[in-house]
This record gives sequence, C-alpha cells and structure tokens, in this order.
Amino acid sequence: MKSLLLTLLLVASAVATSHGTSRSEPYLIHPLRLKSGSGSNGASLIKGINCASWRLGVEAHNIIDWKTVPQECEEYVGNYMLGLQYRQDSQAVTREAYLYAKSLNLSRDGKDIWVFDIDETSLSNLPYYAKHGFGAVPYNATSFNEWVEVGVAPALPESKKLYKKLLSLGINVVFLTGRPLSQKHITASNLNLAGYHTWTKLIVKDVSFTDKTAVEYKSAERRKLEKSGYRIVGNIGDQWSDILGTNTGHRTFKLPDPLYYIS
Ligand SMILES: *[C@@H]1O[C@H](CO)[C@@H](O)[C@H](O)[C@H]1NC(C)=O
Ligand SMILES: *[C@@H]1O[C@H](CO)[C@@H](O)[C@H](O)[C@H]1NC(C)=O
Ligand SMILES: [Mg+2]
Repeated sequence: MKSLLLTLLLVASAVATSHGTSRSEPYLIHPLRLKSGSGSNGASLIKGINCASWRLGVEAHNIIDWKTVPQECEEYVGNYMLGLQYRQDSQAVTREAYLYAKSLNLSRDGKDIWVFDIDETSLSNLPYYAKHGFGAVPYNATSFNEWVEVGVAPALPESKKLYKKLLSLGINVVFLTGRPLSQKHITASNLNLAGYHTWTKLIVKDVSFTDKTAVEYKSAERRKLEKSGYRIVGNIGDQWSDILGTNTGHRTFKLPDPLYYIS
C-alpha cells in the first residue's frame, strides 16, 4: 500500500509539473486518500459491480442518469482520475480532435469555431472532487460553488494543448458552460489563470434556461452561434449533454468523466 501511495504521489506531481503554466496554478491535483480495498483493475469487492465495466458503461452512455459513483467504486475512480490512465484517455481524445482539425479546409474568416465545455473539459475540478469522495457522495451545490468562486481550478493539460493548437490553425474558441451568469467573472479569471487567454465568446447559462436540461440549453446556444454565421467545426465536452441535441458541430469529442452525470 505504501508503494502504491508513493506511485500516486509521483504521478500526481508529474501531472502537476509536466505542463508549462503550472507555476501560475496554485492548486495541484491532490493525492488520493487511500483506503484499503480492491486494486486498480476495477474488480470490486462487492458482487455484481466491476468498476472498470461501470466506467465503460458510463463513457459509452449505456449507464445514464446516475446520481453518484457507486460507493464501492470510489477508490477505483480516485485511482483512475489521479493516475496516468485518465491523462492518457484524454490525450487519445484530443489527439483525434487535432488530427481532424488539421485535415479541415478552413476559411480563415474568423467564423470557424470550436466549442469547448469548461468543467472537466477546459478546467479540472479534481482538487475539489479529491476531497469530496470522487463523485461517490451526493453533489453539494454550496460547497462546489465555494470552490468555483475561488477561481483556481487547474487546466486539463491535454485540453489546453488542443486549445492552443486549434488557435494556431486559425480556429476560434467559444466556451459554452452550464455555469451561471453570477460565475462569469470568476470563470473568465480562472480561465486566464489556467492559461486560456483568448476566446471569441464565453457563454454562461442564462436564467431563462433554469428549468431546461443541459442538452436543451447547449443546443439553443449553439443554434444561435450558427444563426449568427459561425461554423461549429468541432465540439468537445466531458458530458454526453455537451455533444447531444442539435447543432452539435461537424464532429464531437467526448472526454472521460466518471465523476458525475449531467443530462
Ligand atoms: C478549400 O476551400 C476553398 C474555398 O472554398 C476552395 O477554393 C479550395 O478548392 C478548397 N481546397 C480543398 C483542398 O478542398
Ligand atoms: C454542503 O456544503 C456546505 C458548505 O461546505 C456545508 O455547510 C453543508 O453541511 C454541506 N451539506 C451536506 C449535506 O453535506
Ligand atoms: Mg463539463
């Protein structure tokens, strides 16, 4: 167990220091609070749940509308999120996204855009979730919003690399988030702190969408973008609700997220 902890610490610090702007990011990904139990192969001690299979079901959108990570998978999800696999899975997504973007015949008229979700896509809330049971405890809006208001969420390293490459290809970025207007200012400052320095629009959720699903809200905002002449050449998010619905973009990319589900 000791060597596992050491490995996790090394991985966590490698993740924290292996990209350029870590010095400006005061929060590092915390090492997992280890409990005794199953190893990282996903086998759960509880009959009937293999946590790796659960995660695959979540990513494939076979398991939907779930409220929390199964209790017996907390340690598995923690290991996944803090370990190399999450980073590598994310890299596999952003690599495909870049190869696709590079193949496009772009107009360079400023109208080609790529839609980025924010939470668990551009910015990581892992420092928060590492202290709150990796999604295995019910969502607490009060404490989560307290964390958001501090504005120090680190960038997802692979997403930030993609962001920079897309900009250099001449694709503009639109951030489209379920965060409310009251958090727009802190979100902009957090994006800047994390190394996202430019965007065409930062769209936050208007109160008129309060009773709507994320699919409805994001579809409506993307429709507005297309109506005003933008071409959504790509769209990336960690939730299926980021990439389902209408006006989804010419291609969509789904980043891993076994922490929570938003419909
Ligand atoms: C790229 O688009 C331009 C403008 O629409 C067109 O003239 C050109 O033939 C296209 N190139 C390729 C390789 O499709
Ligand atoms: C939610 O978080 C707030 C702020 O940290 C805390 O005071 C409250 O007790 C939490 N609620 C639950 C149900 O844990
Ligand atoms: Mg998200």
